[in-house]
Amino acid sequence: MKELEDHTWFPDFLRVEQAEFIGQMAVFSGIYKPFIQLLKNCVHNSDSLHDLCSGSGVPGLHIFNASTSFKSLTLSDKFPLQKQWPDNIRYLSISTDILEMEFTPQYCYILLNAFHHFNEEEQNSIIKRCQEAGAEMYIAEILEPTLMCAIKVFLAGTIGVLLLTPFICKMTWRKFILTYLIPLNSITVSIDGIISVFKSKSQSRYINQLAKDNKQLNVLRLSNLAGPSIILHLQACA
Ligand SMILES: C[S@@+](CC[C@H](N)C(=O)[O-])C[C@H]1O[C@@H](n2cnc3c(N)ncnc32)[C@H](O)[C@@H]1O
Repeated sequence: MKELEDHTWFPDFLRVEQAEFIGQMAVFSGIYKPFIQLLKNCVHNSDSLHDLCSGSGVPGLHIFNASTSFKSLTLSDKFPLQKQWPDNIRYLSISTDILEMEFTPQYCYILLNAFHHFNEEEQNSIIKRCQEAGAEMYIAEILEPTLMCAIKVFLAGTIGVLLLTPFICKMTWRKFILTYLIPLNSITVSIDGIISVFKSKSQSRYINQLAKDNKQLNVLRLSNLAGPSIILHLQACA
């Protein structure tokens, strides 16, 4: 089952609003703090960061600025967003499908809150192709298949959208209408959130699926007050 935002028919105006809320919410919650600390403590093969599946770009930009380990940031997505991007980043405005693109060791890749969008075969292929290219990748998954996570995601998509939008997002007329008058944003954020929890996997499942026989892949579970995150770190080939 695919998230609504992964369908080509999903309208861009909803995609932008949904991506922005999810990205801002994740940064606002502080859930990426342990991951940022990990990035600071690790030595990387490259100082060029590439955030694949970047959505709003908000978490990628936040991690780039906070980690201080990288000199440049590139963002890309299968569904590129039409919005104003900061001058210090490179945004690929053509569709970049992670299932078709070529990886290169010139970049350290990150994939934030997006790995659960792919089925097992696709996940295996992403890791394999990145590994064959000798590239480094960090995958951060902030959802787990638990009841607590489903409740949190549902609350974030309903009450969270209504209460937090004015504080964490820049308010526009379109956002106001889609949040308070015709609350489509809340509906799509909640639906995609629940689908995502069902598709998410535990640390042990990722270890069995991907890391059991792969010495270059570490699967960690980090957590702080905002909740747990599962980090899959693919080391670059020596
Ligand atoms: C839940 S959003 C996460 C966005 C962002 N990384 C964040 O943390 O806010 C998942 C993103 O994956 C993108 N995506 C889904 N399938 C993709 C593919 N095959 N190639 C590239 N991006 C894809 C979607 O367009 C969406 O922006």
